[in-house]
Amino acid sequence: MAPLLTVEHLTKRFGGLTAVNDVSFTVEEGDFLGIIGPNGAGKTTLFNLITGFLPPDAGEVRFKDQPITGWKAYKISRLGMTRTFQITKPFGHLDVKENVVVAALQTSSTLREARERAEGVLRFVGLESYRDRSITHLPMGLKKKLELAKALATRPSLLFLDEVMGGLASDEVQDMMEVLRKVRESGVTLIMIEHVLQAITQLSERLLVLHHGAKLAHGSTREVIRDPEVVEAYLGEVDPDAVH
Ligand SMILES: Nc1ncnc2c1ncn2[C@@H]1O[C@H](COP(=O)(O)OP(=O)(O)O)[C@@H](O)[C@H]1O
Ligand SMILES: [Mg+2]
Repeated sequence: MAPLLTVEHLTKRFGGLTAVNDVSFTVEEGDFLGIIGPNGAGKTTLFNLITGFLPPDAGEVRFKDQPITGWKAYKISRLGMTRTFQITKPFGHLDVKENVVVAALQTSSTLREARERAEGVLRFVGLESYRDRSITHLPMGLKKKLELAKALATRPSLLFLDEVMGGLASDEVQDMMEVLRKVRESGVTLIMIEHVLQAITQLSERLLVLHHGAKLAHGSTREVIRDPEVVEAYLGEVDPDAVH
């Protein structure tokens, strides 16, 4: 059977800068892949290329063996591939529930269906008691949960998470990890960019390391965090016992 996602030789240049340089990897259904690397390594750009927010200069993306390179994000999302944004982008004039309903509408045929789905997702991530709250003053932990809820509301089979733990306090990180474990148990395949190493090494079985736009390492989390090149480029000291 074809992998769920196949990325081949994906490349993106911004002027003289090659932000993503000839990156290839595959993801099987049920995988939890972590993507790590220094700031500016090209992680978010890689997500943008795969999920249709930027067209690549070269390379190919296939979802369930269907070529989707250069497709627009809304079309890709209808196939079951959705992402969150590192910088959350809620609609400020809508409350928590309405933001999730708008997201659900992308892949539902009626408003009623979107509303029901939004209620389910809010319960699933633990936001139901905030459903009528204005999003303007939500704490960061809840903003990140809302971002996750919006993505889940489209019913993805493959979900891309861009630093959903960035800026969270440690109890919020634990909470988010629990929710992500539940997402995974519900059958969603996950690809996650994260700087919170404690979290990503516990959640992902496989890691892809980007450095200057290129793939520096890719393999089991245990192997990758012991790879001397990875340690030198990015990791420094990670407790090898605290991994998946
Ligand atoms: N739209 C853009 N235009 C020009 N340069 C960009 C753009 N997006 C990202 N870059 C540059 O590409 C490189 C990779 O950025 P990014 O993918 O955001 O890295 P990461 O997510 O790993 O921190 C950085 O040098 C960044 O400044
Ligand atoms: Mg980024």
